[in-house]
Amino acid sequence: MKKLILVIGAVLAIASCVEKNAKKPEYGNPTLETIMTRYSVRSYTGQKVSKEQIDTLLRAGMAAPSGMNLQPWRFVVVTDTTTMKAMTPWGADTWIAAGTVIVVCGDTLDNKGQSNKLWEMDCSAVTENILLAAKSMGLGAVWNAAYPWDEFYHMTQKALGLPENIIPMSIIPVGYEQGSEEPKQKYDQSKIHFEKW
Ligand SMILES: Cc1cc2nc3c(=O)[nH]c(=O)nc-3n(C[C@H](O)[C@H](O)[C@H](O)COP(=O)(O)O)c2cc1C
Repeated sequence: MKKLILVIGAVLAIASCVEKNAKKPEYGNPTLETIMTRYSVRSYTGQKVSKEQIDTLLRAGMAAPSGMNLQPWRFVVVTDTTTMKAMTPWGADTWIAAGTVIVVCGDTLDNKGQSNKLWEMDCSAVTENILLAAKSMGLGAVWNAAYPWDEFYHMTQKALGLPENIIPMSIIPVGYEQGSEEPKQKYDQSKIHFEKW
């Protein structure tokens, strides 16, 4: 009887392991794995990322596509907590915990001084590239929108001494995640249409 109970226990333990592993999706390549498992990180250990890691993140950002290849993005990397506090009306606790923020800014003027209507889209592509690169490097990050909130982005503009045509669009804290979460499940077939709506 004792033996039977032990065998049943072992079978149940193996079954639970198999089930746990079955929940871990296999996406077939590391790029898809990164895309599918990224999530917004808002809790950080306080351990700072290195200059080399920031350099890699900025290179990943600048690899983004842009309308007419104008590359209107500009960046300010901030580690100073006083500057962080001066950049936002909403509190800088998450940024301070992360230790570093990358401010993704857009130049609203093209190289002829004309308005560039695509800068927000270009800077959004940059922001997502940085979030995915951070995930792939074992770092946590989150998209914080400064633009289009007038009070917010004007405050950031002032704190960083940005020229009028340089708009701080997103602010990305990057650091080491405290704890861990599961990515949100967002796939929804009802949102997809083929050929026509
Ligand atoms: C345009 C945009 C603006 C966002 N702004 C903020 C923000 O200001 N603060 C914040 O905590 N998260 C912000 N987020 C992150 C979203 O809340 C997050 O992506 C969403 O809840 C989905 O969760 P996930 O990133 O974990 O998949 C923003 C995301 C986007 C794309």
